[in-house]
Amino acid sequence: MDRLDKILTSLGYGSRKEVQALIKRGHVSINGIVMRDAKQKAHHEDIRFDKELIDPKFLVVVMNKPSNIVCSHNDAGKLIYSFLPERWQQRDPKISTVGRLDSDTTGVIILTDDGKLNHALTSPKKHIKKIYKVTLAMPLNGDEADIFASGELMLRGDEKPCLSAKLTIIDPFNVYLELFEGRYHQVKRMFAALGNKVVKLHREQFANIRADDLVEGEYRVISKQNIRFI
Ligand code: URA
Repeated sequence: MDRLDKILTSLGYGSRKEVQALIKRGHVSINGIVMRDAKQKAHHEDIRFDKELIDPKFLVVVMNKPSNIVCSHNDAGKLIYSFLPERWQQRDPKISTVGRLDSDTTGVIILTDDGKLNHALTSPKKHIKKIYKVTLAMPLNGDEADIFASGELMLRGDEKPCLSAKLTIIDPFNVYLELFEGRYHQVKRMFAALGNKVVKLHREQFANIRADDLVEGEYRVISKQNIRFI
């Protein structure tokens, strides 16, 4: 149980002062009874705002990230968070992306304010699967799948070789690459290490989560129980 004003402020319903005023004006009820005392403690699931259940305590969102959007809270470019409802953008703790995609990368990304979940999905120890569709500037030369699978590919500046990764060839310019780690610019650096260049990058899958049903910039709320740690 927590104070009404504390709960609603943390969910982005307004500043502490604004929320207190909304409570006073009768917008908030507990188990159907209007409650005008901001200090009243309540269980999250019993609280309604304008007769609607309040937003969940933790949000987990799957988005199909568009291109030219940054996965950062403070950048000059257009932020991925701007696609979420205004109220969600005011939550504290903040909603953050689970890992990052480059500005020009599209595809599935999870966003959440559940810090434990975020940590579990990004921990290098968990080896969460990511599948990318990659378009290349030059045709494959044939040895890429073996080199990526070897677990011996060193990237410039890194101390350890890349974990074994699986390459599936679509045609000489297009492949799927399955990774079990998430280093900075990893896909681009892996192909650069072999003298090629990534011209288009789309993440098809993160763990078991896909975003094929979403157009770019669209999102849907999922439950964290939907995520399998594969
Ligand atoms: N690898 C990259 O190079 N960029 C991404 O956005 C994701 C993986």
